[in-house]
Amino acid sequence: MSAVVVVGAQWGDEGKGKVVDFLSEAADVVVRHQGGNNAGHTVVVNEREFKLHLVPSGILYPKTLCVIANGVVIDPKVLLDEIAYLQGHGVDVSRLRISSKAHVVMPYHAKLDAVNEERRGDQKIGTTLRGIGPAYMDKAARVGIRVGDLMHPDELRDRLSRALEEKNHVLTKAYGIEPFSFDELYTTFLDYGQKLSQYVADTSVIVNDAINRGERVLFEGAQGTMLDIDHGTYPFVTSSHPTAGGAAIGAGVGPTQIDRVYGVAKAYTTRVGDGPFPTELSDATGADIRERGHEYGTTTGRPRRVGWLDAVVLRYAARVNGLAGLAVTRLDVLDGLPSLRIATAYEYQGERLTEFPDTAWAFRHVTPIYETLPGWDEPIGSYRKREDLPTNARHYLDRIEAVVGIPVVLVSVGRERSHTIVLHDVF
Ligand code: GDP
Ligand code: IMO
Ligand code: MG
Repeated sequence: MSAVVVVGAQWGDEGKGKVVDFLSEAADVVVRHQGGNNAGHTVVVNEREFKLHLVPSGILYPKTLCVIANGVVIDPKVLLDEIAYLQGHGVDVSRLRISSKAHVVMPYHAKLDAVNEERRGDQKIGTTLRGIGPAYMDKAARVGIRVGDLMHPDELRDRLSRALEEKNHVLTKAYGIEPFSFDELYTTFLDYGQKLSQYVADTSVIVNDAINRGERVLFEGAQGTMLDIDHGTYPFVTSSHPTAGGAAIGAGVGPTQIDRVYGVAKAYTTRVGDGPFPTELSDATGADIRERGHEYGTTTGRPRRVGWLDAVVLRYAARVNGLAGLAVTRLDVLDGLPSLRIATAYEYQGERLTEFPDTAWAFRHVTPIYETLPGWDEPIGSYRKREDLPTNARHYLDRIEAVVGIPVVLVSVGRERSHTIVLHDVF
């Protein structure tokens, strides 16, 4: 098995960073292929916490090649800061490669993200305000600036002046905001280009060569299935494809090159940002899980909305991603809860739905149908084998496999790399 995609199976923050870091020990190359610094992936190794936004979670291993591929949108300042932060912690980043085709998140994208959200009022998406949507909009509108442009002064002058003419028009005329200065942006971004140039490469060649040599390549998804612009809870989604297909386009590899896809899911559900969330717990149990699990966003610090595990969502994720299995994280957060619930179906207009509804309207109006399971008392964080887990924890995992219809391949029982139980080989 050489090329494996890891995606979020819920609404993001499932613990992809932890799982990808764990699997990276066996990987030769780790690739980020979509999203931008809306992502926040936390990795904890020997009590040291690393928060990664753009650099793949494989960077903490000395030999792994890490690729930021064409499908990612890059805020160069954030990336340079992240590189400096990693270097400051003794991490060698010389194995980082960045696609010249990746689009650049410009300061006007962040500004437009903010004014768009403000204008939406109570219909706001609750974005991370990092300019991700407007950057992907420019990519689709064919007025984006790409990493490669930052290394060519004439190209950048041309692309930036065209883009800025339109952006400044919108910002000044529609929103009464000060225009951005061309000269300032031009010199700043040329400078970023110079600083990043040592990492820039044709990453599609690198990734395909690695696959063809039989090396182990891991694709690290950002966000989650339910935030996918096509398959998520539109319009409360991000602007990229966090589902598995995004890995092929976002890294320039053929779908036939990908061997397997795994989903990461919390043992319950969280969502940060606005939009429908059928199993949301707005009561004391939800607040309790939020506090036990320190459920506050890695990127924005916002409290995450918390709810029971939703197997309808996970079955849907299994379908649209072609999941071969699930990595279940944060099982330890449920320690001590007297009982647990799993939504196995929804009720909608008097009918029982077992498939995720096809329309946003229906999804907003479903009521979960729950199965209740007994909890366990003892802390499970120190267990490393499935057999050691309390009977009810094993039973909970069995039910997840049964109602989602795919195997659980890995269980995470704590934040540390070592807090992991492997049930099946992933590579
Ligand atoms: P990602 O965006 O999917 O990479 O997830 P985040 O890093 O944003 O959020 C997941 C959080 O859960 C991080 O703080 C992780 O350190 C933490 N985490 C991951 N797995 C576990 C686990 O099994 N147990 C506990 N208690 N925390 C975990
Ligand atoms: P990781 O990779 C959780 C959410 C935002 C908002 C919506 C759109 O850490 O799992 P955007 O800024 O992308 O336009 O916001 O998507 N969102 C995430 N939620 N985890 C993430 O990334 C997210 N990235 C974006 O909260 O609801
Ligand atoms: Mg996150």
